[in-house]
Amino acid sequence: MKAIVVTNQAAGTAGMKLVERPEPQAAINDVVVAVHASGFVPTELEWPSTWTDRLNRDRTPSIPGHELAGVVTALGYGTTGLSVGQRVFGLTDWYRDGTLAEYAAIEARNLAPLPGDVDFSVGASLPISGLTAWQGLFEHGRFRAGHSVLVHGAAGAVGSMVHERPARTSSAPDAPPTVRRRSTSARRSSSTSATTPWKTLAMSIWCSMSSAATSGGGPHA
Ligand SMILES: NC(=O)c1ccc[n+]([C@@H]2O[C@H](COP(=O)([O-])OP(=O)(O)OC[C@H]3O[C@@H](n4cnc5c(N)ncnc54)[C@H](OP(=O)(O)O)[C@@H]3O)[C@@H](O)[C@H]2O)c1
Repeated sequence: MKAIVVTNQAAGTAGMKLVERPEPQAAINDVVVAVHASGFVPTELEWPSTWTDRLNRDRTPSIPGHELAGVVTALGYGTTGLSVGQRVFGLTDWYRDGTLAEYAAIEARNLAPLPGDVDFSVGASLPISGLTAWQGLFEHGRFRAGHSVLVHGAAGAVGSMVHERPARTSSAPDAPPTVRRRSTSARRSSSTSATTPWKTLAMSIWCSMSSAATSGGGPHA
């Protein structure tokens, strides 16, 4: 399969190369996903897990990217809850080969079903920033219905998730968000009540993913 690999931490993103790699196999409780859309953040190249395994052994050449949306092509032994041909989105383990590839092997528990009317690119854009927003609000901020929250950088990837989620924690979850935001960027200064349809869909699947993470075993940013 085609994949982007890194071998040299000092080279940064300039060291990313498109190469041929063997297709991954599904281990116990894994699935293999044909990747239709993938998310990558350059800071991954500073994470120790991009370069070494959990025993601190060199694991290069490694495939970066951890967010993905795609279609399940194979199930590992013992895998339950997903089926071949199913649309999914999720987050790969930091210490395993990632999603800048045609196929990725991933634990089934780190995936959620992607509705048929949500683009793969929307699905792949949600996991890390959505999880980061959720952890900031609920684990670190202990946010509850009735609280107020001040969001810095609310027009960014994490911030746009944060200012949507408090609105949906209110007693009327379908009501338009009442959170007000200000941005240094004029093009991003519209009211949150003008929520676009894709964003509403994205938020509903993100809320499902957050619930799965709350119940234990989910990925952590
Ligand atoms: N994305 C993730 O999944 C993730 C995961 C873990 C941690 N983080 C951390 O979370 C933070 C935000 O990440 P992001 O991905 O959301 O970044 P982003 O998409 O680049 O958004 C950054 C936001 O911050 C605003 N901003 C920048 N400089 C500012 C300043 N001096 N004063 C006020 N606002 C300012 C920007 O506003 P304008 O556009 O109006 O300039 C923008 O809305 C970063 O520190 C990142 O390292 C992100």
